[in-house]
Amino acid sequence: MKLLVIGSGGREHALVWKLAQSARVRQIWCAPGNAGIAAEHLAANDTLVECVPIGAEDLELLLAFARKHRPDLTVVGPDNPLAAGIVDLFEQDGLRMFGPNRSAARFESSKVFAQEFMERHGIPTARAGTFSEFGAASRFASGLGGRCAVKADGLALGKGVLICRNMEQADQAIEQILVRKAFGPAGARIVIQELLEGTEVSLHALCDGKTARLFPTSQDHKRALDGDQGPNTGGMGTCSPVPFLSEADLASVRRTILEPWLRGCAADGIDYRGILYPGLMLTQDGPKVLEYNARFGDPETQVYLMRLESDLADVLDACVSGGLDRIEIRWRPESAVCVVMASGGYPGSYAKHKPIHGLDAAGRLPNTKVFHAGTAREADQVVTNGGRVLGVTALGADLEKARAAAYAAVDAIRFEGAQFRRDIGMKALAR
Ligand code: AMP
Ligand code: GLY
Repeated sequence: MKLLVIGSGGREHALVWKLAQSARVRQIWCAPGNAGIAAEHLAANDTLVECVPIGAEDLELLLAFARKHRPDLTVVGPDNPLAAGIVDLFEQDGLRMFGPNRSAARFESSKVFAQEFMERHGIPTARAGTFSEFGAASRFASGLGGRCAVKADGLALGKGVLICRNMEQADQAIEQILVRKAFGPAGARIVIQELLEGTEVSLHALCDGKTARLFPTSQDHKRALDGDQGPNTGGMGTCSPVPFLSEADLASVRRTILEPWLRGCAADGIDYRGILYPGLMLTQDGPKVLEYNARFGDPETQVYLMRLESDLADVLDACVSGGLDRIEIRWRPESAVCVVMASGGYPGSYAKHKPIHGLDAAGRLPNTKVFHAGTAREADQVVTNGGRVLGVTALGADLEKARAAAYAAVDAIRFEGAQFRRDIGMKALAR
């Protein structure tokens, strides 16, 4: 098989690393990739993964590349190309894609669509309303005492959600998104949800249009600083599994959240192929969906793929062909922890081109994999090239051992201004 992977983050490095282990995979291109991806070798023939300098949002150039090289399967990492319809575009040319088409990707690209879908199909979520006008939005927020999440309808680089705890903040948030258009046309409409209290966890399910297969549980740590302090980020670290969620809890999630979603897709004529990644809040009244993503999580993918025993190429291939019900997906019983090392200042502004030391030493530690995100090669050095720089990931017999192994590798790596959390996985242990 020849594969094209689209994206350049830690998620895409994890995808490429795992796909490269498949005996069936004989060539991988990654557009645009990063320094870690460019250093991966294929198990089948020892060739290097080839990074192609085409951005993940340059649909025309990606299509031209795929027309020329005819990959057997293209795997899309990020949300923007999915929302822009890259799957529809490739499929018109007979190119097989892993990921939802433009209409199915609306679960992530339109919060209004997702909210209305959940309400139509009885999927537990926050009480919410949809608005395009300040007065009505403000009155609804006032009915919630100002305690609400104000969300731009469209994609806004993960920044379009404002958490409010009083009316002053709520009015400001509504004004910012709806009136001043801080997120551009993504804010033409907003969803206002009641604020849910509880513990947040990530779910992933593979779906081939008919069958959905739930992954084990994982938990992201979205705030920049220890103890869930500081600003929201793309994700500072993950663990899997989340030990306080039992098999019975997961069965209930399947029954109340995943099955109604599948039935809803069938009823509404949505052909969903790819990963569905709902963000859940475990509330006193049971699990509720905060939002849907239509792709693999980053850094959830890093811990999931460390635990995946099955051949990822087989799994993704079956998903695209509609044969998910016929394959076995095996997971290692061990726990995995991923600690993100970011550039100083992230998620605000940060410097680039800082040399990264200790990658080889960290990479030699057992049961450890250093996934690259914002890295580049300059002369003979790997340097920082983005906000999230590395996803240092380790497997251990339990969560504590996985944490210890991941942090041993983190402590072997140095770059100027490196910023990371010391408490990834602690919340899951504390419960
Ligand atoms: P979203 O992109 O919709 O997941 O929102 C980003 C983050 O905002 C989530 O990961 C939650 O931490 C928080 N959030 C979103 N909606 C709510 C809500 N209704 N109640 C509490 N927190 C929320
Ligand atoms: N883990 C957060 C995200 O992928 O959106």
